[in-house]
Amino acid sequence: MSNDEIIQSHYKIQAEKHKDSPTSTMEDVIIRQKELESIFSFFSLREVKVIANRVLEIGCGNGYTMQQLAEGHPNTRFHGMDFSHDLLAIASKREISNGSFSQGDVRKLEYADASFDIVYTERCLINLLTWPDQQKALSEISRILKKGGFYFMIESFTDGFDNLNKARNELGLDSIPVAHHNLYFNKESFKEFISPLFNIVDPAGLGVVENTALQHNFLSSHYFTARVLHPLLTKGDQNLKNTEFVKFFSFLPPSGNYAPIQAHILQKK
Ligand SMILES: C[S@@+](CC[C@H](N)C(=O)[O-])C[C@H]1O[C@@H](n2cnc3c(N)ncnc32)[C@H](O)[C@@H]1O
Repeated sequence: MSNDEIIQSHYKIQAEKHKDSPTSTMEDVIIRQKELESIFSFFSLREVKVIANRVLEIGCGNGYTMQQLAEGHPNTRFHGMDFSHDLLAIASKREISNGSFSQGDVRKLEYADASFDIVYTERCLINLLTWPDQQKALSEISRILKKGGFYFMIESFTDGFDNLNKARNELGLDSIPVAHHNLYFNKESFKEFISPLFNIVDPAGLGVVENTALQHNFLSSHYFTARVLHPLLTKGDQNLKNTEFVKFFSFLPPSGNYAPIQAHILQKK
């Protein structure tokens, strides 16, 4: 199977199983909720509000996130694009007065240079299974953004993932493998590659020190609870998901660097 076939067939199954549900592509309800809070926090930043006329979600899946955002921001035009025909068919049935959807490939975007103010992704670029493909995607996102525009990325990185597995191993738990349809970013290579294209914006510099939803490690405490403490106490019962124990600790602020999924605000140079 080619890499593209792996992705199309994985999301065909997701589309059949989860249809238009928020659990599509993410069965951990706390991660979905915290990702939404993070994306909403990003769109509430003053620096974002003043420029957000045309917004693109790349890898919009079944369109759940984009619908929530579009309904909350009626004066902004949203467009969602995705590689999976099956997920897109579900997204396209959503009635969003200020939104539209189309099929496409982030490695070769069919939009003019500087045509969007904001781009965001929620676990999309990790579906590109080689680093050169991920580099193409980052270059394309930079190309279609206006100068000063933002790319808000929720994607996975090996540093948080390695720390998580180290914590598991110390307590006698096996490492979690990376899913067959994912490739996580190496932080050093990522930073080096994007440096001519983007500045990484520290949310503290935007006056949102107290908004932990925008910290890059916004999921760290949750991952530590759900993937280290909880399996330890339940002796690794994989069927136990979204328990009250895990929910209780989800009220903690983020601490440490134990989550593969991270949020980063990039500003086009
Ligand atoms: C983990 S899912 C997340 C979907 C959605 N953002 C969500 O939160 O449910 C990743 C999405 O990226 C899409 N994707 C994968 N490769 C892509 C590509 N080359 N171009 C555009 N989208 C792609 C997949 O089809 C899938 O919908």
